[in-house]
Amino acid sequence: MRVYVDEVHRHVGEEITLKGWLYNRRSSGKLHFLLVRDGTATIQCVVFVKDVPPELFERAGHLTQESALEVVGTVREDARSSLGFELGVREFRVLHDAAEYPITPKEHGPAFLLDHRHLWLRSSRQHAIMRVRSTVVAACRNYFDRRGFTLLDAPVFTPAACEGTTNLFEVDYFGTPAYLTQSGQLYMEAGAMAFGKVYSFGPTFRAEKSKTRRHLTEFWMIEPEVAFADLDDDMDLAEDFLVEVVGRVVAERRRELASLERDIAALERVQKPLPRIRYEEALATLAEAGKPVAFGEDFGGDEETVLSERFDRPVLVHRYPAACKAFYMKVDPEDARLALCVDVLAPEGYGEIIGGGQREDDLDTLEKSIQAHGLPAEAFGWYLDLRRYGSVPHAGFGMGIERMVAWLCGLHHVRETIPFPRMLERLTP
Ligand code: 4AD
Ligand code: MG
Repeated sequence: MRVYVDEVHRHVGEEITLKGWLYNRRSSGKLHFLLVRDGTATIQCVVFVKDVPPELFERAGHLTQESALEVVGTVREDARSSLGFELGVREFRVLHDAAEYPITPKEHGPAFLLDHRHLWLRSSRQHAIMRVRSTVVAACRNYFDRRGFTLLDAPVFTPAACEGTTNLFEVDYFGTPAYLTQSGQLYMEAGAMAFGKVYSFGPTFRAEKSKTRRHLTEFWMIEPEVAFADLDDDMDLAEDFLVEVVGRVVAERRRELASLERDIAALERVQKPLPRIRYEEALATLAEAGKPVAFGEDFGGDEETVLSERFDRPVLVHRYPAACKAFYMKVDPEDARLALCVDVLAPEGYGEIIGGGQREDDLDTLEKSIQAHGLPAEAFGWYLDLRRYGSVPHAGFGMGIERMVAWLCGLHHVRETIPFPRMLERLTP
């Protein structure tokens, strides 16, 4: 009977068949230990000289890394292994003899590993990260699905910029310039007026020309948008969402996080209430820390690092100067210099993982803002319609999946959080 490695605990004492790849191998005289992975987990398969024909024992001693195997044997408890079980091999078949595998247990540099990303994904560390990512996505979607949000997919080809014109990817759309989407937000605003509560989840693109550990040119964003909601509602939603998603990942991916040597206690501290500070309070903190920022400037990676290290859980920084934020932000009625926006900074120096806020719902103000930002009015005609027909206060946010995964896994760079990263100097594999 064919069994997956993560199900062997249900078959103790039984003979089963496994299909997988040779992860590693070592031998000691009468025994060959084959570490076989099948994508669900890895198991030690023990080939004892007396249990198999001589030619098979010999073959086991020459198997190459990543050869594909079918292994038949009996499941035994094995308290010493992390899986808790091993396989006593009776026979095996080599389905494919792998050529000399380029990724060996020795250390490789990041460029070499990224060039071999299609193979690197098989390593236990990448496996753990991708499983965390998979659960992050499921938890995010589940959060909104269970609260009456409708999933509304945003287009990837767009006629206009959402997040500024400096990092647009332009494509030739049958002779007309079009842009790969930077954010689904504007479409989610249309969706919120149609369905009340919506979210999108899809790839977004930014021609980031600088090399940093937080920027990809293609990344995935989850973006909720809610009608009849203001900045406070938006912050409550972001807080509740984050706490639930982190909790679920910690509960379901404890083994993976532990294998990545993540300090899980730091994630368990992510409980309500999350601290909320105003931009101006953040300025004071930065000045104290010897990193002064002038009022009106946005924070860069360094400033976010300083701020996020001050807290033991994500911090919501709200009301940035309108001048450094996007055209659609609603101006604070209590201080016209400020926008009703919020960034959520992850602790431990990770920085911004969420950006959002309340949207401008007044037609005239929005038209002026589009003009002031030098954006082409024609491209926003449809968007302005939303302020002509039943305009109401509304708010939302976007969370980058890769930044979230980097923080949850405790990774230095976002490049390991996505199966095939796209960056300034990387388009392959
Ligand atoms: O702060 P941003 O630019 O906000 C928006 O795009 C809004 N329109 C979202 C909304 O309100 N619906 O981006 C949101 C998040 C960031 O907080 C970050 O997590 C991620 O997207 N992000 C990136 N992740 C990886 N690489 C990049 N180049 C990123 N740029 C933004
Ligand atoms: Mg932002």
